[in-house]
Amino acid sequence: MIFNVMTLFPEMIEDAMNTSIMKRAMEGEYIELKTFNIRDYTLDKHNKVDDYPYGGGAGMLMQAQPVYDCYKAITENKDKKPRVIFVTPQAKVFDQAKAQELAKEDELIFLCGHYEGIDERVLEEIVTDNISIGDYVLTGGELPALVMMDAISRLVPGVLNNEDSSVTESFDDGLLEYPQYTRPEVWNDKKVPDVLLSGHHKNIEKWRYEQSVLRTKERREDLYKAKFGENI
Ligand code: ADE
Repeated sequence: MIFNVMTLFPEMIEDAMNTSIMKRAMEGEYIELKTFNIRDYTLDKHNKVDDYPYGGGAGMLMQAQPVYDCYKAITENKDKKPRVIFVTPQAKVFDQAKAQELAKEDELIFLCGHYEGIDERVLEEIVTDNISIGDYVLTGGELPALVMMDAISRLVPGVLNNEDSSVTESFDDGLLEYPQYTRPEVWNDKKVPDVLLSGHHKNIEKWRYEQSVLRTKERREDLYKAKFGENI
């Protein structure tokens, strides 16, 4: 998977990606990160990339020209144009299903906005997907792009050591994950549930499923209703 990121703050993307599992995934060449500083593509002699909105209003907008020229530079030698994801709160919210869908691509381009937004005309020209990470407003698109790249990367084969750990987990089957325990057997007077020590795999599986259902009902009624219907 190749991630191309168009941003005014490439170091923010690189710093976060050069840590932990993402770092290992890049070293192992399971994923590749290419950052592009949109400012490098401005034709303005003062390196400006923003201007006032027509019609007035608060703040500044990123101009179309540097964004478009940056996109052109990324895609000029590519036969197949990668999907361009504009990270914006004005969109449907990213979820595990979207992560799975995007993980099937060979290459993606993320466009990170700043200031009050980006000139609509360049968005119309290049963006294939608008995606939000939640119903709140951040100062820029870098954190949302990092969130999405993290969620996508761990689904790329080879990135996680244990293939299983990206299979049995929250959201895969529309349920939250069951509680987990490690040593010691008793901690703070709390004992690990007996069934997990029994070695009886069928019973363990059943217990875990029941716990998943219970947890989903308690913590995420919306997911519970989506899976089992309104009347349960
Ligand atoms: N940019 C600013 N806020 C955002 C959000 N919630 N999701 C995606 N991009 C954003």
